[in-house]
Amino acid sequence: MKKHIVLLPGDGIGPEVTKAAKRVLETTAEQFGHTFTFETQDIGGAAIDHQGTPLPEDTLAACRKADGIVLGAVGGPKWEHLPGHLRPEKGLLGIRKQLGLFANLRPIKGFPSLLHASPLKREVVEGSDLLIVRELTGGLYFGEPRERRNQNTEVVDTLTYTRAEIERIVDQAFQSAQLRRRHLTSVDKANVLESSRMWREIVEEKKHDYPDVEVEHMLVDAAAMKLITNPTYFDVLVTENMFGDILSDEASVLTGSLGMLPSASIREDGLGLYEPVHGSAPDIAGQDKANPLAAILSAAMMLRYSFQMSEEADEVEAAVHAVLQDKYHTADLKVAGGIQVSGSVLANKVSEQM
Ligand code: NAI
Ligand code: MG
Repeated sequence: MKKHIVLLPGDGIGPEVTKAAKRVLETTAEQFGHTFTFETQDIGGAAIDHQGTPLPEDTLAACRKADGIVLGAVGGPKWEHLPGHLRPEKGLLGIRKQLGLFANLRPIKGFPSLLHASPLKREVVEGSDLLIVRELTGGLYFGEPRERRNQNTEVVDTLTYTRAEIERIVDQAFQSAQLRRRHLTSVDKANVLESSRMWREIVEEKKHDYPDVEVEHMLVDAAAMKLITNPTYFDVLVTENMFGDILSDEASVLTGSLGMLPSASIREDGLGLYEPVHGSAPDIAGQDKANPLAAILSAAMMLRYSFQMSEEADEVEAAVHAVLQDKYHTADLKVAGGIQVSGSVLANKVSEQM
């Protein structure tokens, strides 16, 4: 298959980890007989420096035509003095919004060789492998009105969704569950919130379209507890924007390192933006210390979710697994008896394992 990929390296360690992801994608193309073409565009601070804006028109135009987009990270101290609309983060928020990437997918997997790095007991996290599907462009973070009222004595935020917005995220979650262990937990606060009651109704309607998926409802507070007491219980969770923000950060501690967590923001037609959860890590930028695995695992998600290349994605994930089993790691991971290497060496090891 032929696929065109836009790379948005961004700032700090972004370029290093994006290069690592590209390397692994090239190996994938070679091994499976695909043709991947790459194009690099500016975003974030790099775009501000080169073009005076965090999200240049050329970048947006290239992304609209792409089959998949891989982003490194944006931001850093160099741009912190700039006014809000000119900040690097605007590039990231802008691209998600402009491309209508409404579904945020965050897989969390406890790699056996890293379980000691988790703050939770080994027997609790061992075997955990879950996916949080968070609604990203609606809900409490975008609802209007949101304002101070009556001389600053009152304040309002609004949780709004249209039926169509809930339907598309719920469809996405059912489809993600079909690619995994077919167990979906819909998380809400239906005992209190009307928006949650409608969310529940829609899940109940939609489940008839996916008879192979087992679905249940769970209140968000119960889900928060269960995530740390019994994470292996979950396969796929789907939830509203703010609930998803909080639960995905909570779940991220299961794995023990920020340098291990991939994410995707996608829409109905399969176009997606794939990026590590971590930021630009200015403290270690340019030293080849950055852990490239989150970016590599993000590229694997692109293979799976945008290119429908499950076998290829499995291959990349298995290679990451194998490298960790061999105890190779970057400085951010503490592996007993491990072999500490640079980010680029670790990326090469992954390619060699494929
Ligand atoms: P950060 O994720 O960049 O770094 C937090 C800590 O984790 C640092 O000590 C860093 O060295 C370490 N770390 C992060 N990724 C790593 C990796 N791959 N390998 C090894 N160590 C890693 O978060 P921080 O420090 O809060 O933010 C730094 C900059 O990144 C800020 O300008 C922030 O706005 C931006 N940021 C960007 C994000 C994005 O582009 N999606 C997300 C979060 C922050
Ligand atoms: Mg968050």
